[in-house]
Amino acid sequence: MSDKPRWSEKYRFGIAEIDRQHQQLFAIFWELHTAIGEGSDLEKVNDCFDRLHRYVMTHFAYEEQLMTEYDFPQLLAHRQQHADIRDDLQALLSIYNETEESEVKLGIPHKVAEFLEEWLEEHIHHSDRQYALHLLDRGVS
Ligand SMILES: [Fe+2]
Ligand SMILES: [Fe+2]
Repeated sequence: MSDKPRWSEKYRFGIAEIDRQHQQLFAIFWELHTAIGEGSDLEKVNDCFDRLHRYVMTHFAYEEQLMTEYDFPQLLAHRQQHADIRDDLQALLSIYNETEESEVKLGIPHKVAEFLEEWLEEHIHHSDRQYALHLLDRGVS
């Protein structure tokens, strides 16, 4: 699993609360990955999956509130990206909650982990950076 994204300095924007939240996202993401890798402890996977899902929602709401407050010009496009990710996550969560069979159930967080891997790289590194630059310009730190 060494090729999975880890927090590194390239994700740091210099906005303390955002950097802290992104680090936390990577941390929960890794916990989920580890739990899946260990294989059978469905309760642990369940707990990580649930926390990751809730943390993503909280984080998006926080970012959108900041972008609104500082009149980020690409707010609508960014909000749409969040909405797409949120829809995909919620669809997977619904399947997960309705599934009884543990083999199938473990496959869902695995899909989520794959999906979020791309998101952590792409969304944070490229899209979040855009609003971060805007905020830094306004003196937010
Ligand atoms: Fe973010
Ligand atoms: Fe974002």
